[in-house]
Amino acid sequence: MATAAGRLLPLLQLLHALLVVAAAGVTYDHRSLIISGRRRLLISTSIHYPRSVPAMWPKLVAEAKDGGADCIETYVFWNGHETAPGKYYFEDRFDLVQFARVVKDAGLFLILRIGPFVAGEWNFGGLPVWLHYIPGTVFRTNNEPFKSHMKGFTTKIVDMMKKERFFASQGGHIILAQIENEYEGTEQAFGAGGKAYATWAASMALAQNTGVPWIMCQQSDAPDHVINTCNSFYCDQFMPNSPTKPKIWTENWPGWFQNFGEANPHRPAEDVAFSVARFFGKGGTVQNYYVYHGGTNFGRTTGGPFITTSYDYDAPIDEYGLRRLPKWAHLRELHKSIKLCEHSLLYGNSTSFSLGPQQEADVYTDHSGGCVAFLSNIDSEKDKVVTFRKRKYDLPAWSVSVLPDCESVVYNTAKVRSQTSMVDMVPETLQASKPDQWSIFTEKIGIWDKNDFIQNGFVDHINTTKDSTDYLWHTTSFNVDGSYPTSGKHPILNIDSKGHGVHAFLNDMLIGSAFGNGSKSSFNLHIPITLKMGKNEIALLSMTVGLQNAGARYEWVGAGLTSVNISGMENGTIDLSSNKWSYKIGLEGEHYSLFKPDQGNNQRWSQQSEPSKDQPLTWYKVHVDAPQGYDPIGLDMQSMGKGLAWLNGNAIGRYWLRTSSSDDRCTPSCNYRGQFSPDNCRTGCGKPSQRWYHVPRSWFHPSGNTLVVFEEQGGDPTKITFSRRVATSICSFVSENYPFIVDLETWDKSVTDDGRVASKAQLSCPKGKIISSVNFASFGDPSGTCRSYQQGRCHHPDSLSVVEEACLNNNSCTISLADKGFGKDLCPDVIKTLAIEAHCS
Ligand code: GAL
Repeated sequence: MATAAGRLLPLLQLLHALLVVAAAGVTYDHRSLIISGRRRLLISTSIHYPRSVPAMWPKLVAEAKDGGADCIETYVFWNGHETAPGKYYFEDRFDLVQFARVVKDAGLFLILRIGPFVAGEWNFGGLPVWLHYIPGTVFRTNNEPFKSHMKGFTTKIVDMMKKERFFASQGGHIILAQIENEYEGTEQAFGAGGKAYATWAASMALAQNTGVPWIMCQQSDAPDHVINTCNSFYCDQFMPNSPTKPKIWTENWPGWFQNFGEANPHRPAEDVAFSVARFFGKGGTVQNYYVYHGGTNFGRTTGGPFITTSYDYDAPIDEYGLRRLPKWAHLRELHKSIKLCEHSLLYGNSTSFSLGPQQEADVYTDHSGGCVAFLSNIDSEKDKVVTFRKRKYDLPAWSVSVLPDCESVVYNTAKVRSQTSMVDMVPETLQASKPDQWSIFTEKIGIWDKNDFIQNGFVDHINTTKDSTDYLWHTTSFNVDGSYPTSGKHPILNIDSKGHGVHAFLNDMLIGSAFGNGSKSSFNLHIPITLKMGKNEIALLSMTVGLQNAGARYEWVGAGLTSVNISGMENGTIDLSSNKWSYKIGLEGEHYSLFKPDQGNNQRWSQQSEPSKDQPLTWYKVHVDAPQGYDPIGLDMQSMGKGLAWLNGNAIGRYWLRTSSSDDRCTPSCNYRGQFSPDNCRTGCGKPSQRWYHVPRSWFHPSGNTLVVFEEQGGDPTKITFSRRVATSICSFVSENYPFIVDLETWDKSVTDDGRVASKAQLSCPKGKIISSVNFASFGDPSGTCRSYQQGRCHHPDSLSVVEEACLNNNSCTISLADKGFGKDLCPDVIKTLAIEAHCS
């Protein structure tokens, strides 16, 4: 017979099990997420799994963790996964479960932004192109076909994650999920339908029963049980739409994306740090870098149109997976300093007060006597000295100091102590295994094989290709008789297009090309031409460069030719727009999959020892050796024009040597102070937007590698090389007047005479390399930037020997500005700086 206690036991066990589940789950209050029963302050970092390769994932995630991340965030890329209705792909770069597992194994949380609309500079904003052609579908508003497919995909992803027990409610690591993406603006454009859809999307998501909260970013009307979050360069002023929700920043952009034809955007580390410190100072508790690693838009995954294949983004980890310094390390210090404040921030009472016209303090005090303060100077020009709790603090312009005990400064966002690394692309010869063996395939100009259809006038490019290829051939012919100008003037071929580009051929010769750009897809082309008497053939290769990725009704934005005529003829203009045009979708080489090795295409290629140069529409194949070592590899395409490239059948992506204009807003040095915008700090004006194309190491075989390049316009393939990406120079520029009172690493207050920490220069080479030379060292008042430092009036003569002594032949070194070697103060009135440039090899 069971005793009363015996009967109680299973009940207690059940209760305990329920409590454990609840504790492992995620809830929230007005202050923060609550994970396993505890409020949390979270640093989150976006890494988009298909923008790198599985072999890179563990290291990328480890670098994020080492950089202070608690959490990885990713979008889920619908069009990469559901390639046709109900046909799914979850392999290789799209192995979402494996990516989630890597994050879990690293002990980090995961935020899954399912969308499934994502924008993200991704082709078609992540939505499948086939979906647009399902009758009755309008993207992202209230209609059955869209909603049913969106629900189907969302459920598929949620079920996959549940099966792996990945949700925190199941003991896993997914703590938040996102539905939709920045829908607010689109919602307004759709009126009542938009509102109904937003409400539906939220309830569809909640009904998935994940046991973790759902978020909607940029969605101020998010319903009660969905947390609305902020996306911007700054989110300190953001407030969620209910006092019951925590303040979450889903997209802090630490840089920006780039279009072909634009210079490289940069966001200074000081400003990123400023925005983050302001956010936490003003009550934020989850902050995500969009993106922490941007990676590569391999193949034809880039959207836009015109977004570059590189999605480097000036992110803390660069496209190739290397730390971007000082950004990565400056943010790492910030994360450490904020974590020192976590308890008081989350459980304390907050007050904010003014310390000056544009200076303020945000102070949190908790019951256990803890006190933390964030002192801000939001003046974008003037440095200030403020008084806080009877002490004086230096606050550089546009900066925040972090005081984890309301007294000691451990960090200031404008004072970068971390080293700078200068990364170079070091060329390797393209080691062709059989260098005399180039294989060539030249596309026929115009319709190859049979046309797909003939029609009077033009079609929409995207509706015709359905994005199965970038390319669509249009050909027509016309007769020239006595009306040909004899006056010596050339007639003009005029082409209008909605986008994105065209190569124009007349009688089998490439006579011109034109493209739209990141701000306007449409373009016109006007070329003087020479006609022949009798029949003339025009072949126009229209092309797309990634599909639109955002905006209300973006899926209806078309592309392709709208008008073609020849003006300047004796008897007026020949209008070819309503001519009979023959169409062919894609290229012959694509049709035969020339980019894939071992497709039985040998007879199609012709062998040449020296391929001819400047040939349009040409495929090149060459066997290459893998570059030595472990450094990441970029394919240097400087000698080429525009096209596509593959290694061993893996699509590297679109390459395009399009240059930015030489007066394109570049600045020799970048001022971090004041509101950032992507045009503030560009580099590389007048140069190709993207010269190197990332080829992941894991795509190389030990031997027998095949590189295939399809060139549209003409180039010199023999000059294509691989380059190794290497951090060659490392620099440090540290001053005595850095306002830190306490050393962040050691929390060491017993320091210099005036109570400050002696500043330290710290240098370290990448793993496996050593400091092989010190190219510059000056303790005094040097100036300049890494690789162009100059001595000032004050220079300690032993600077170089002190630094060499500490650093040479070591992987890393630390030199205190209070080093004995600098003992004799030659210029007592000068606040000293130690500048070092060293070389790693
Ligand atoms: C946001 C969007 C992201 C990305 C970003 C710019 O508005 O949500 O997906 O496109 O802009 O990189």
